[in-house]
Amino acid sequence: MTIDEMRHELQRRLKKNRFAHSIGVANTAVKLAKKFGVDEEKAYVAGLLHDCAREFENEQLPAEAIKRKIKIGEVENSMPLLLHAYIGAHMVKEIYGVDDAEISQAIYRHTVGARNMTPLDKIIYFADMIEPNRNYPGVDKLRDLAEKSDDLDEIILTALDESIIFVIQKKSLVHPDTIDARNFLLNPTKEPTNMYPFMTLNDDTEIIHSEILPDDSVKVYVETPDSKDGFHHMTVYLPSYRIEEVYRYTKEEVDRFMEIIRSTAHLIIQFAAQGGFENASYI
Ligand SMILES: [Fe+2]
Ligand SMILES: [Fe+2]
Repeated sequence: MTIDEMRHELQRRLKKNRFAHSIGVANTAVKLAKKFGVDEEKAYVAGLLHDCAREFENEQLPAEAIKRKIKIGEVENSMPLLLHAYIGAHMVKEIYGVDDAEISQAIYRHTVGARNMTPLDKIIYFADMIEPNRNYPGVDKLRDLAEKSDDLDEIILTALDESIIFVIQKKSLVHPDTIDARNFLLNPTKEPTNMYPFMTLNDDTEIIHSEILPDDSVKVYVETPDSKDGFHHMTVYLPSYRIEEVYRYTKEEVDRFMEIIRSTAHLIIQFAAQGGFENASYI
């Protein structure tokens, strides 16, 4: 579908006010995209279609979610309106032919947010709050901030704060994803990696390894206590045998550890896939 066709289809399916709001979000999203260097066409399409699932009445949303195998959480169960975001993320493809993971994700996250939001996610979340048809106490403060601030994270943090305060004042449930979104902005953390013991050598060197990482690699960490200067260590990735760092090992020591790792790599990878040696069920 062309963007023009999407607009017509959306207009046919949504109530007049909802359609006007959608156009408002699309235009606001493009302005923000220009300012923050995000793909403007994606911003327009995501903004235009973010509320496409509002063609359904609230009571229809749980059934529409189940139809698409969308998990209904505790908060969604008591506030089914929230489901429109997740259903919309599917409908952009089903109805409007938009097969774009970034756009779907931005639509998915537009109501409650999420940890680790992309700039597009943030822009759609925020445009939804400040588009010109919106009218609520505090909206002008957010619009001013969008004009003045060059820091998208500062803007989105304020928006999340406002929406959490609003939800609390209404005595409604706060969605955990909104708290996660806020905490992540204040304290961006890497996903923790569990490490598992694999082998202890005669000199007390420990070899430990990670689970299978998202890029299909396994991290192997070698560490030797030294009475004089703490620990010597090195990090190697499998299956590439890429050495990431070496700290205070001699060349001979590195060669020796690499030989051990090469001869046991198949086991390490196997245990990594099974959550460690102790969890490997058939040992
Ligand atoms: Fe929405
Ligand atoms: Fe909306």
